[in-house]
Amino acid sequence: MEIPVSAGAGLELRGLRRSFGDVVAVDDLSFEVPAGELFGFVGRNGAGKTTTMRIICGLLAADAGTVTWAGAAMDASIRERIGYMPEERGLYPKMRVGDQLEYFAVLHGRPHRRAQADVLWWLERLGLDDRAGAKVESMSHGNQQRVQLAAALVHRPDLLILDEPFAGLDPIAADLMAGVLRSEAARGVPVVFSSHQLELVEQLCGKVAIIDRGRLVACGTVGELRGDGPRMIRVDVRGATPGWSDALAGAEVVEQQDGHVLFRLSPGTEPEAVLDSARRAGTVTFFAEVQPSLAELFRAAVSE
Ligand SMILES: Nc1ncnc2c1ncn2[C@@H]1O[C@H](COP(=O)(O)OP(=O)(O)OP(=O)(O)O)[C@@H](O)[C@H]1O
Ligand SMILES: [Mg+2]
Repeated sequence: MEIPVSAGAGLELRGLRRSFGDVVAVDDLSFEVPAGELFGFVGRNGAGKTTTMRIICGLLAADAGTVTWAGAAMDASIRERIGYMPEERGLYPKMRVGDQLEYFAVLHGRPHRRAQADVLWWLERLGLDDRAGAKVESMSHGNQQRVQLAAALVHRPDLLILDEPFAGLDPIAADLMAGVLRSEAARGVPVVFSSHQLELVEQLCGKVAIIDRGRLVACGTVGELRGDGPRMIRVDVRGATPGWSDALAGAEVVEQQDGHVLFRLSPGTEPEAVLDSARRAGTVTFFAEVQPSLAELFRAAVSE
């Protein structure tokens, strides 16, 4: 069932803009998602994520800008190859799961026989093999979400756009979702998903775009987003000489409590210098360089 997608089949947004009355929801937005990349799209409520995704999928017109896939402008035939998981779930509540998925697959041009096989394969992959006959309305939120994912994937899309696919999933279901997104990216599909679970985005994504009030404020790997920020060192020292941390050249104390000290290093100061001083002061029980998390980078990026 693993059908590789051709290399170079990336998604590109250029100068995208969309207003609703006075509200500029998407403001001159540009980024690229190469084939095979798992791309996290993050931003505060109302930042413009859903609007952007709906424009990519052709459900909403842009006021300006372009969306291309594999270098070609989006048209109906390319759109047919998108797998989209909308924020507002779009399933038929009274229809049975198996029938519904088959319907979506055929709607996207899968031959009937192939569609039936694909439905069974996805139901099994998503742990829903005993629910094919269930009506969607009788299922829990998380299981409806799995069906919604299956609906986005059942026609073997070449591009995946998922609006908050992890919202409301339990940790096991979230692992399953993450595994599916990883394997779709490994197949060569550009996978764009929005999420407010930044720890998960940090673990999962090759690249991340942060948008704020419709504008791109940061884009890159989490390492790139960290950029040239100061190095931070955390040291725990037992039985330390009082005041040992106050006079270290090139290492400023940011936090200090019960033997735990967080230092911000000046450019050119090496962590070893802090370690040497800590050893002279007492017994070092913990020593590590601390990297800002995506959540911290996000807060800094959107509050500027
Ligand atoms: N159909 C619409 N009519 C009027 N305003 C809209 C419409 N759709 C979106 N907006 C506005 O555009 C802005 C961006 O909304 P959007 O739904 O894209 O945000 P979002 O980043 O997806 O937020 P969330 O994290 O809450 O899902 C908001 O100010 C929203 O109120
Ligand atoms: Mg949204």
